[in-house]
Amino acid sequence: MISIAIDGPAGAGKSTIAKELSKKLLYIYVDTGALYRAIGLYMIDNNINNDKSAVSSLKNIKVNLEFIDKEQKVFLCGKDVSSKIRTPEVSMMASKVSAIPEVRSFLFDLQQNMAKQNNVIMDGRDIGTVVLPDANVKIFLTASLEKRAQRRYKDLLEKGIKCQYEEVLRDIIKRDEDDSNRKIAPLKPADDAIIIDTTEYSLKESIDLVLNTIKNNLR
Ligand code: DC
Repeated sequence: MISIAIDGPAGAGKSTIAKELSKKLLYIYVDTGALYRAIGLYMIDNNINNDKSAVSSLKNIKVNLEFIDKEQKVFLCGKDVSSKIRTPEVSMMASKVSAIPEVRSFLFDLQQNMAKQNNVIMDGRDIGTVVLPDANVKIFLTASLEKRAQRRYKDLLEKGIKCQYEEVLRDIIKRDEDDSNRKIAPLKPADDAIIIDTTEYSLKESIDLVLNTIKNNLR
């Protein structure tokens, strides 16, 4: 099986680019952030606000991914929560729970099994470093803070989620900091990752650049 790992900070364009490339390459696109978001949503819906309770609630949580018309859907305890997990509140909670080691190990097998059974393009924070250390190609996608906040703000408005630009910027700064500084599986490029900065590129240019990088480095 072939696996492509795409890591990087929030708003770097990982999911938009990976989704497009999965269509061109005919691989399955796995958005691992959606898994952490589903756990975050569970904590919000059940008013769980400390790590200890979060860990003990894991036994009641079932998260799974399904591919309907080639589109990833995430199910939390049997319910499709694919849209519900996109709010800024869930983003922040996903980042918070993602620092808990038990949450990471809870989601680990699910991610690895997807890559054992399918050719995948998988995006996240620790795919090249921890989840798929033997991925065929590892890309670390980044862009300036302002550009990432602008893109995320536009995405949210397009999804009909009301928000302020300043709030989106503040959340991204906090998530960058927390995701990069946590003790376990922090956001960082793998030693053998190719770093691509998309600040100055349009979406189409970024897709072409990442596609060519994959093609040129597929081993
Ligand atoms: O990619 P995203 O914005 O949907 O991810 C939401 C949060 O989940 C992110 O702030 C950190 C966490 N996450 C993670 O720790 N590891 C991953 N592989 C993917 C996401």
